[in-house]
Amino acid sequence: MPTAPVPEGLAERVAAAQHVMVLTGAGISAESGVPTFREAQTGLWSRFRPEELATAEAFAEDPDTVWAWYEWRRDLVAAAGPNAGHAALAELERMLPRLTLVTQNVDGLHQRAGSPDPIEFHGNLFDNRCFDCGRPAPDVPRPCPALPRCEACGGWIRPGVVWFGEAIPTAALQRSFSAADDCDLFLSVGTSSLVYPAAGLAERAAACGAALVEINPAPTELARHAVCAWASPAGEALPVLVATLDGMRAVDREK
Ligand code: OAD
Repeated sequence: MPTAPVPEGLAERVAAAQHVMVLTGAGISAESGVPTFREAQTGLWSRFRPEELATAEAFAEDPDTVWAWYEWRRDLVAAAGPNAGHAALAELERMLPRLTLVTQNVDGLHQRAGSPDPIEFHGNLFDNRCFDCGRPAPDVPRPCPALPRCEACGGWIRPGVVWFGEAIPTAALQRSFSAADDCDLFLSVGTSSLVYPAAGLAERAAACGAALVEINPAPTELARHAVCAWASPAGEALPVLVATLDGMRAVDREK
């Protein structure tokens, strides 16, 4: 089935932008085979909800189960690969004068697709640190089926992701909101726009005059405030956007 063309005026808007900000969510990794959060979980963990596992309380109560869930997710992501949507965003960053990429995802797929410095708003699945003393634990092997212990204090090692109720890493928070203040175009890609403070970035950008665009097969609440809601999978939409921009540049070069 032919891929839908870029919505009217969107490519021109991207080409004219001085600073594009992109916020991605689990939807951009869906085409890599990585389950999103709010779809029923598949496989071994279908009896749990992420909220029952992705909290400090759940880890304190049952660290082995929480560690095993993150090991399962690491195996899944390690076996997956970035898809055409991730690759198109990396290409877009090379094409445009300025693009700030913020991701809610912890899978590291943007880096593997070539994005040089994605802001990881919720941390990274492959970073580990001590639950008790906070020391980084870079030497945890992969895979590591048994819950590892901190070499310094003997505490449990936890994944370096942001759990529900935890603070966003300060640098990520500051860099993201200053980009939202400055950008003139904000692309929300593959997120349900439900979880704050990440979901507040689009609102902040719009309040500072940026135009909002959503790319999501199931338009969200954000779509009502967007100049364009492109109901398409990211793995189809983003490559078409990049190809269209390429075509526009070729025409300009011939003038
Ligand atoms: P969700 O699972 O809440 O939403 C995924 C979104 O992706 C949905 O709106 C889908 O319609 C959309 N989607 C599905 N397939 C897509 C595709 N091929 N292309 C584009 N979009 C697609 O995931 P997030 O919005 O990322 O937080 O969730 C935000 C946060 O909630 C996560 O970072 C996590 C979770 O709790 C923490 O862990 C702190």
